[in-house]
Amino acid sequence: MLLTVDGLQIGFGAFSPVDDVAFSIDRGEILGIVGESGSGKSLTATAIMGLLPRVGGRVMAGRICFDGTDLVGLAERQLRRLRGGRIALITQNPMTSLDAMMPVGPQIDQAARLHLGLDRSAARARSLELMADLRIPDPARVYALYPHQLSGGMKQRIVIAMALAGDPELLVADEPTTALDVTVQAQIVQILVELVKRRGLAMILITHDMGVVAQTCDRVAVMYCGRVVERAQVNAIFEDARHPYTQALIRCIPRRDMLRGSMQPIPGMVPTAAAHPAGCRFHPRCPRVSDQCREETPVLRTGISDHGVACHRADAA
Ligand SMILES: Nc1ncnc2c1ncn2[C@@H]1O[C@H](COP(=O)(O)OP(=O)(O)OP(=O)(O)O)[C@@H](O)[C@H]1O
Ligand SMILES: [Mg+2]
Repeated sequence: MLLTVDGLQIGFGAFSPVDDVAFSIDRGEILGIVGESGSGKSLTATAIMGLLPRVGGRVMAGRICFDGTDLVGLAERQLRRLRGGRIALITQNPMTSLDAMMPVGPQIDQAARLHLGLDRSAARARSLELMADLRIPDPARVYALYPHQLSGGMKQRIVIAMALAGDPELLVADEPTTALDVTVQAQIVQILVELVKRRGLAMILITHDMGVVAQTCDRVAVMYCGRVVERAQVNAIFEDARHPYTQALIRCIPRRDMLRGSMQPIPGMVPTAAAHPAGCRFHPRCPRVSDQCREETPVLRTGISDHGVACHRADAA
């Protein structure tokens, strides 16, 4: 496995918005992490990037093993060499990655110069190639433009080019298209997935959208309130979802043949991290709740396949 996250607990002082999270990903694979807002997806990504200290959090327990090295406790100097190099992050808002005062092309060059040691002209040639790969029309012209001269979709393509410029082995894409129009979203996800597959990279794709997962991911981890509640191959998730929360998420996918408004939202709200319910954190919203669910935290149990589910009532459907 290229990356193995095991027993990850993230703390902010006394409270832990991410608890006992485990998943792994190999080269050439796309792992989807799905879950509603506040389930701990971005914090998990932040931990993998070694950036928790910047948001005031820290890893309280667990391992983040990348190609045999545990990143937890690694010196900042070593993490800095990995970030943007072997591991790259794509975030939701392109302007968190882009410098408004600098033309976009040279911003792509930076990762190749820093991590691959290319000189100015080699880096530029590589950036233009990447821009073409991302189907940016007329790369030589766009290279010299400033971020504000580009549409949201073009800016996000530049951010993806920046992430790829250091020749990463693992891409962590945290809702890379959420800020964009729906049609642009679909295009960019498609281009991203094509590039990842062609280069045999590993990608963690964080999304709210089970529809995107169905179309792009090989495996899925479903998170709820800071825990992984179900984890499986994508087919198994859609054909045989075991956790009531996963089942509810799948029912939420809008289908073309549905009338507007006929989607089934999941009743109830996600509790805040400071007030996680005892027992199974989903129990207040769960249609199958039992007394055990109110008291005992279910652990992720894996059967004969690698399909894991954390639910006392998974067999009670
Ligand atoms: N810097 C922080 N300090 C304290 N609590 C935080 C911090 N960042 C996140 N949290 C808490 O951790 C929980 C998980 O946050 P996270 O951003 O990982 O969720 P998410 O799954 O990415 O949600 P979204 O889909 O909205 O992006 C939230 O309940 C949030 O309140
Ligand atoms: Mg997030």
